[in-house]
Amino acid sequence: MTEPCIIVTGGAGFIGANFIQQWIAAESAAVINLDKLTYAGNPESLRDIAAHPRYSFVHADIVDFDVVAALLAKCRPYAVVNFAAESHVDRSIHGPGDFVRTNMVGTFQLLEAVRGYWSVLSADAKKNFRFLHVSTDEVYGSLQAGDPPFTERTPYSPNSPYSASKAGSDHLVRAYHHTYGLPAITTNCSNNYGPYQFPEKLIPLIILNALAGKPLPVYGDGMNVRDWLYVGDHCTAIRLALARGRVGETYNIGGDNERTNIEVVRTVCKILDAQRPQAQPYASLITFVTDRPGHDRRYAIDATKSRAELGWRAAETFASGIAKTVRWYLDNPDWVQSVVTGAYRTWLEKNYRDRGGR
Ligand code: NAD
Ligand code: TYD
Repeated sequence: MTEPCIIVTGGAGFIGANFIQQWIAAESAAVINLDKLTYAGNPESLRDIAAHPRYSFVHADIVDFDVVAALLAKCRPYAVVNFAAESHVDRSIHGPGDFVRTNMVGTFQLLEAVRGYWSVLSADAKKNFRFLHVSTDEVYGSLQAGDPPFTERTPYSPNSPYSASKAGSDHLVRAYHHTYGLPAITTNCSNNYGPYQFPEKLIPLIILNALAGKPLPVYGDGMNVRDWLYVGDHCTAIRLALARGRVGETYNIGGDNERTNIEVVRTVCKILDAQRPQAQPYASLITFVTDRPGHDRRYAIDATKSRAELGWRAAETFASGIAKTVRWYLDNPDWVQSVVTGAYRTWLEKNYRDRGGR
């Protein structure tokens, strides 16, 4: 008898690392983290649980069918949770190839390996198995002010290479359930924020630039809206979806926290003014820069179904979550140092060089 376990892919990334930490604290099954350790994967994010008896790490690529199939055969998980992805819209604009490779081909290869493993399980194990695919609200496209939030029935309309590649992966997951009966569930969540987020994304970028006295780049007019979800609340929703979700279903997860980007940036500045006062308010560093091509105007999630079927509730408001997040970056300079490498600086140069300050 092997001990009950799950496999998490992409567990060294932002959400995956938070998920694994929460899993170890809240659940009794073991967790195996399969991660390629791209620029976004950071073992430092898992330092606190690296030696835990219920945690293990496998350095591998989801595209590599043979490695994934062998791991499944050896560990015999009752669930696979797929976080592995290229996840940054701006990078997908500079180089979409990696997004197609990991998000589409990788999800396909992973599904094939999982299907092979699952199809020969005993009837009971087959019924209880879950493939949970973590996706994004960006697959639904862009809302205008006044449009109702995305529901699970909103048609897909992806606009960036990132969201198109995630949409492709979602369709494959759907097809594997519909065609082969694979017990799959997909979750589509809004923008996450919280500890361990790589500082190429808006909130940690703004915190670190502000602390370094650098410009705070706001794309376009700063009026694009995102629906911010605290990462711990997202991880709780995924655990509930695994335990209670109906197979073949999709669940939207959102924070009910729509904010314009400029509001978010000003909020971070205010918190820093209180926690790390400087001669000038941090907001004086705000710089409007050239917009992202094809920049989606607004995302917003209707999470009614997740609340009704999974019994999920977000524990954090935006005010409590953003205060915790800023505090975490202030309190964890070692983690910050571990990610602010030469490769990170090269990315900043590439993404912001030609944007200017409008
Ligand atoms: P991230 O970029 O921080 O981490 C991705 C992880 O996947 C990294 O550890 C990386 O090393 C790993 N990875 C990449 N390619 C791989 C491959 N081929 N094989 C194995 N591992 C690979 O991403 P995140 O923000 O933690 O997002 C996790 C998931 O949630 C993604 O699927 C993303 O699309 C989705 N999502 C994220 C957000 C958000 O706001 N961050 C919002 C909605 C959905
Ligand atoms: P981001 O964190 O990249 O997430 P996503 O593009 O997946 O929503 O960006 C969040 C919002 O912040 C998005 O509207 C783009 C904007 N943004 C800026 O204004 N400046 C920046 O430097 C970055 C990285 C993002």
